[in-house]
Amino acid sequence: MSVKNLPKAFPKTLIKTRKNNPILSSEITPESVYLDRRRFMAGLAGGALAAGLPGSAAALITNPAAEDPRKPDWLKQAVAARVDSNTSGEVGQPTPYSDATRYNNFYEFGTGKGDPAEYSGAFKTDPWKVVVDGEVARGGSFTLEDILKPHPLEEHICRFRCVEAWSMVVPWVGFSLADLIKRFEPTSKAKYVAFETLYDPKQMPGQASRFSGIQWPYVEGLRLDEAMNPLALMVVGMYGRSLPNQNGAPLRLMLPWKYGYKSIKSIVRITLTEKQPPTTWNLLAPREYGFYSNVNPNVDHPRWSQSRERRLPTSLFDPNWRDTEMFNGYGDEVAALYKGMDLQKYF
Ligand code: MTE
Repeated sequence: MSVKNLPKAFPKTLIKTRKNNPILSSEITPESVYLDRRRFMAGLAGGALAAGLPGSAAALITNPAAEDPRKPDWLKQAVAARVDSNTSGEVGQPTPYSDATRYNNFYEFGTGKGDPAEYSGAFKTDPWKVVVDGEVARGGSFTLEDILKPHPLEEHICRFRCVEAWSMVVPWVGFSLADLIKRFEPTSKAKYVAFETLYDPKQMPGQASRFSGIQWPYVEGLRLDEAMNPLALMVVGMYGRSLPNQNGAPLRLMLPWKYGYKSIKSIVRITLTEKQPPTTWNLLAPREYGFYSNVNPNVDHPRWSQSRERRLPTSLFDPNWRDTEMFNGYGDEVAALYKGMDLQKYF
């Protein structure tokens, strides 16, 4: 994102996409069906045929990895028992699992797109603690289980657009950030929510490197009314499985109307504040990355256009460009939050 962190040109994938063929969340292939299909395909020289299946099935076939055995059973069961949120609408075909889990930004594990998958394998996410503090009546230190217990998990299939102009469609598993915040009883002074990623250079080699320029730990923030929007999710799984380490295990944010860097990973602290909190990319390059970071095709990044995006998977011969939509297509749900604001100024 900064000059030295510019993305590599294109992800390596041979999977073809079917353009303009949106599917509803209810049409995602259940894993039992996929497993049957996989057995069937295996008997039929499956690889070549897999490329012709609908997106979700092809995604799973290209990466039939089982659940990570180091994730706690209670979490795997909670994720497996998710219900459909019925709010996903027509967002496009889900990106293959292999792309969503191997083309990542998680600078704590390196600046290359493949680094997070390569170097986060041993990252310990169980047990996990989250501190909630600041302007709340009921703060404290909570285990991941405490955090999740009262919240039934839902699957939300969302568009996800990086400031680097690539995008995905991902079936996330999580619960409403608003419901979580309400439990801590924000005081009348609370106007913003700040989030912090784990700081542990022994486990996260990127934090030990002097070359990233990032001030660790990675921090992010939202205005409280943004955080209370139903689209703001706390995520613990994807594609029906617990969150892989490279995608921000065990707990991350998902804000589909904002550029991907707002969706902070591996959260260990949530602080309600009176003042606008600092955010990592804004600290690094304030002219390039604002506090709001709403997806906006009319406000270009100083070094590239934001009017279009490459929907993964892409290849040199099929970059799969498409027009970027205001608020990433979620204007009906979020535009009211920014009514009267100059979005060129508050980018
Ligand atoms: N969170 C932390 N802690 N560290 C990071 O480097 N990268 C951000 C965001 N959250 C990042 C992070 C960026 S730039 C993007 S685009 C998304 O995570 C990528 O999420 P994904 O790898 O699951 O696609």
